[in-house]
Amino acid sequence: MMASQFSSLFLEIGKTNPWLTGVFFLNLCLFTLFAYRVHLHPLSHVPGPLVAKCSSLWLHYHAYVGDECTRIRRLHEKYGPVVRVAPNEVDIADGDAIAHIYSAKTDLVKSSHYTKFAVDTHTTVFSTLETTDRSARLKAVMPLFSASGVRESKPVIEDCVAEFVMRLKTEAESGRVVDVLNLTEAFACDVTTACLFGESYGALKETVAPFSVAGYFDSFLSPGRFFYMPTATWAVLEWLAAALFSNKQIGPSISSVNSYVDRLLKSSKTKSSSFQGRLLSQGVPPLETAAECKDSIFAGGYFIGVVVAHILWFLVRNPDKYAALRRELLDSRTSSESLPYLQSVVKEGLRLSMPSPARLPRIVSKDRLIVQNYRLPPGTNVGLGALQLHLNPDVFPEPEKFLPERWEHPTAEMRRDWVPFGMGVRSCIGRVLSNVVILEVIKAVVESDLLAGVRAVQEKIEVKEWTISQLKEKEILLAWG
Ligand code: HEM
Repeated sequence: MMASQFSSLFLEIGKTNPWLTGVFFLNLCLFTLFAYRVHLHPLSHVPGPLVAKCSSLWLHYHAYVGDECTRIRRLHEKYGPVVRVAPNEVDIADGDAIAHIYSAKTDLVKSSHYTKFAVDTHTTVFSTLETTDRSARLKAVMPLFSASGVRESKPVIEDCVAEFVMRLKTEAESGRVVDVLNLTEAFACDVTTACLFGESYGALKETVAPFSVAGYFDSFLSPGRFFYMPTATWAVLEWLAAALFSNKQIGPSISSVNSYVDRLLKSSKTKSSSFQGRLLSQGVPPLETAAECKDSIFAGGYFIGVVVAHILWFLVRNPDKYAALRRELLDSRTSSESLPYLQSVVKEGLRLSMPSPARLPRIVSKDRLIVQNYRLPPGTNVGLGALQLHLNPDVFPEPEKFLPERWEHPTAEMRRDWVPFGMGVRSCIGRVLSNVVILEVIKAVVESDLLAGVRAVQEKIEVKEWTISQLKEKEILLAWG
């Protein structure tokens, strides 16, 4: 009786005011959807704020403004190590879960969010989702990234380091405030291209700042702010943004990198054992080889550049650590000991600079995943992020401080939760190369004593916490004299 009265009343309103009916229906649908997501969804038992359980808008917003990791850190403080951050996304802050999510055995694939990092519409080793897709390419180039491959590149690395120190000296002598990030990115771009492609990009030879790779790096970072958006929607937005707003720096910078890669693929190096030569002889088409080259220019140039600039800034801000490192380097000239303090400085620098701070999302496959007694059904987006692990005070006491000494006797948890290069089966292929490059360049700068008496202009370096972070000020300034 009541139901029929209600429906006839509703039909009556519909006749007189169709807009009101539409609004009513929309609200009813939303209410039903939210009620389902909060109470009946297979993730309804996972704690998290109501707003994130109801809709992904919370996550989209914080990814966009670049404070996602900090906000999620607060949620972990409130709800514990497993938090639902969107209707279908779970963030975990427990190093024990690394083995379950990122190991080859559990076979969780990268989430479709990564397809936004395709280069010129081609998927690359980094952006492809399935591990099987990338294995032939990986096998072809892996010798260049192995310990022995990197050892062979040592003379090339040393030449690039010497050029960087000379350039830093020239800049320092100019008496101007120096943007060291610009210099370290140029150095990292040159060293990566020289080691992998057999031909340096030559960014350090440029005289006008910002160097020509800077805009290209920015274009690569831009998907980060829309990381969780469906890729098709993002592609339309990107197209619209490019049509409406032209960026004077990015266009020429992309052209400059494109011409360098075109030259590279036309040169005789394509027949050699270089990165591009190996891919081409494996049958990878030239356009896809070019995309892999561009990916490596970004990965090497940006990631290594950001870490080196951060470490220089940390050393300037902590003169006692700088003095301790210098002492070790001077003493080592007379002994053949390894350089444990230098290693600790680099480890600590990687912990705090973490160019990839956010959750690295994977999709729970056929079998459900159980983490901390929470059952996560197939299809759930799940992952851990470096920021949650690196700034966990239970594992790294006083986590915000630059304390290389903490690595003198690392605990098992510290070793497990130090993940600047990602985790497990899809972790970074450039890890050994990056480590050697960073160690060599920091060693050379400190030996040259170029940082003595230098002042750091910024009190704090703030980043947009995207999948690949971007410095808010896009510069790290040091003042000589
Ligand atoms: C300080 C330097 C670097 C850092 C901190 C870094 C960080 C990372 C991280 C966190 C991942 C994992 C991404 C994920 O799981 O979603 C990754 C993957 C990757 N990195 Fe790096 N990276 C560095 C240098 C390099 C260099 C020099 C190269 C190559 C030239 C490189 C190439 C790659 C590739 C191809 C992958 C994807 C691997 C796969 O999915 O199988 N990286 N890197």
